[in-house]
Amino acid sequence: MAVLDQLTSQEAIDLENKYGAHNYHPLPVVLSRGEGVYVWDVEGKKYYDFLSAYSAVNQGHCHPKIVNAMAQQAQTLTLTSRAFYNDMLGRFEKLAAETFNFDKLLPMNTGAEAVETALKLCRKWAYEVKGIPENRAQIIVCENNFHGRTTTIISFSNDPVARKNFGPYTDGFIKIEYDNLNALEDALTSNANVAGFLVEPIQGEAGVYVPSEGYLTAAKVLCKKHNVLFIADEVQTGIARTGRMLAIDHENVTADILILGKALSGGAYPVSAVLANDEIMNVIKPGNHGSTYGGNPIAAAVGIAALEVIKDEDLADNAQELGELFRAELSKYIEKSTIVNSVRGKGLLNAILINDTEESDTAWNICLALRDNGLLAKPTHGNIIRFAPPLVMNKEQLLDCVSIIIKTLKAFEN
Ligand SMILES: Cc1ncc(COP(=O)(O)O)c(C=O)c1O
Repeated sequence: MAVLDQLTSQEAIDLENKYGAHNYHPLPVVLSRGEGVYVWDVEGKKYYDFLSAYSAVNQGHCHPKIVNAMAQQAQTLTLTSRAFYNDMLGRFEKLAAETFNFDKLLPMNTGAEAVETALKLCRKWAYEVKGIPENRAQIIVCENNFHGRTTTIISFSNDPVARKNFGPYTDGFIKIEYDNLNALEDALTSNANVAGFLVEPIQGEAGVYVPSEGYLTAAKVLCKKHNVLFIADEVQTGIARTGRMLAIDHENVTADILILGKALSGGAYPVSAVLANDEIMNVIKPGNHGSTYGGNPIAAAVGIAALEVIKDEDLADNAQELGELFRAELSKYIEKSTIVNSVRGKGLLNAILINDTEESDTAWNICLALRDNGLLAKPTHGNIIRFAPPLVMNKEQLLDCVSIIIKTLKAFEN
């Protein structure tokens, strides 16, 4: 069988199962094409994508402006490494720095790499600027966080599936309850060597937990008081997903270190970044940190196009409006539902809580039924289904999706 022969769904699944590591449990659907809010499987069935590759495809699948930028750059210059300058990186850095109001950007590829970069930057700042004794810096993190899969990051995860048997773990993290300002204040006052507070403005992977109004503002004030860096992981929530360019913009909070990934490329290419002002970023000197592919010309061209699309198409406002409509429509249904307890979220990052235990397979079965009805979504935890369509969706499409979701849920009502 030639690799490029047309496969059936089952053949593609069998190949992955046999030759691929089993580090994911995908919904059984095999996609071969995407455009805007839609994806198609290998048999030609069309679906609404209600996951957007975990909020990477905010600009919609195969956005022509992003694809053209990528194709053009791919035919011109793909990779120089940072051993040399390239004529695209500076342009991307300028656009992103100006867009998010920071002096400087450090380019990486994946979200986890950007989080690692932010942790290193924070520690180095702590020793060289704040004056914490060497190797004593602590970074406060939140319970139920998700920041990626590297050894250091899983060291401060409390998900046993992500952690078990990957030790020994990296030291230097203090875990506190999310959305609990007293816990943050306690941790800041009872530890002398705190360098940073790493937080997701909404906990996406944990199940779209939106913290109380004012939490992020007050957390930032506390950090400032203790000379501790407020590090916002906006890998999933950033780039218009929640109805603002950043989720922290809802509270007009500014981060000391901002972490971006996913939709920074519109799903076309791995592009991530850490942004900070000079007094922090300038602790990084040549040789301290890097990545062969980080800041490559394709990534830069794609990143520019991806940010321009967000602005040109007003995707933050669209996410805000459609998100309100989505939650309002679902809430009406949920009032009378026995299978769904609640809907929550901001902009187009939402989740419904299924009325069953975390161990049950009800949410999974609902996702299978949604698939059969032409909409793709996935449980985050056993009984929570995340709904995060591309932000290029229009109102008519959204209402069509709402009716698919409600029709599907109705079949599960007792
Ligand atoms: C908040 C957050 N940070 C970091 C990551 C890791 O990103 P990546 O999978 O690109 O390494 C994710 C991925 O879901 C995320 O949601």
